[in-house]
Amino acid sequence: QVLDERMMTLKDRVLKYLIRNKGSFVSGEKISESLGISRAAVWKHISSLRQDGFEIDSASRRGYMLIGDADIINPQIISDSLRTSFIGKKIIYMDSIGSTNDHIKSIAGGSTDGTVVIANEQTKGKGRMGRYWHSQKGDGIWMSMLLKPHIAPNKASIITQIAGAAIVKALDEFGVSAMIKWPNDIILNGKKLCGILTEMAAEIDRINYIVLGMGMNVKSDNFPDEISDIATSLYKEGHAIKRADIIRSIFENFERLYVDYIKNDDLKEVVEICRERSAVIGKDIYVITWSEKKKARALDISQNGDLLVEYKDGRKESLVSGEVSI
Ligand code: BTN
Repeated sequence: QVLDERMMTLKDRVLKYLIRNKGSFVSGEKISESLGISRAAVWKHISSLRQDGFEIDSASRRGYMLIGDADIINPQIISDSLRTSFIGKKIIYMDSIGSTNDHIKSIAGGSTDGTVVIANEQTKGKGRMGRYWHSQKGDGIWMSMLLKPHIAPNKASIITQIAGAAIVKALDEFGVSAMIKWPNDIILNGKKLCGILTEMAAEIDRINYIVLGMGMNVKSDNFPDEISDIATSLYKEGHAIKRADIIRSIFENFERLYVDYIKNDDLKEVVEICRERSAVIGKDIYVITWSEKKKARALDISQNGDLLVEYKDGRKESLVSGEVSI
């Protein structure tokens, strides 16, 4: 175990060295000298990086050159160049796991605020309302954040919308203009691109922790029949963006909006984004509760993120959280 960790660190250090010199050759000798490891070890780590999917050119006497980093999620690389103070500073990456939400719950007690679990594949991905979340290997961003805010449990549901706003902002940076189906589905060209599943462990007046799970379809092409009409991916909509870049941007946008709320009770930017990019305001929708599905018109989103709806009989209601369909 200890040896494995040391090897990981060295491999990451070799990778970092190559990234810093991207586009030019660096000799094996130079890498071995700067990292204090043998040439054979350098070579071993280079082969292993190639196996991970990094494209590394080599030429005799000139050394190695990083050409491309495909679409790899490398936790070290993400958190190193990340401009946040706690979100994503610690990343646990797994090639395959049941559910990242469940995994983070199992380590929540001993983990710090802002820890993130990311998986390349989920075998038991969970959606809202007990549904299954399709999370095929390499196809998307399947991740969960651990949050330990000092707020009352009844103030937590808005965190889902904060995440939605952060995701939309992050996608904007890559020229993707997505919408939010209140409270927490991210929609692109009328289809679902991303879902959020927020879980909480709390006492009646105190939050132990919150798990914020996000699933974004990035490269998915063939969805299962049941969802093929309603789901989409960035790839399907014509966007090729690296998962690591989106993840970094989600962390940065989320931290800003989340800290505004937790520290200053300020939801201004979040509500502005949720309103401007709402996929439901002005539309006829269904409000779904435990027992029924009621037709209503979505009127607006209030200053605190509630969805204001008007039913057929003229009765108005302010929804704090829940599920609506278009
Ligand atoms: C939904 O729209 O129903 C919510 C989907 C949430 C999926 C994500 S993927 C990462 C995290 N782990 C899970 O098991 N689910 C969430």
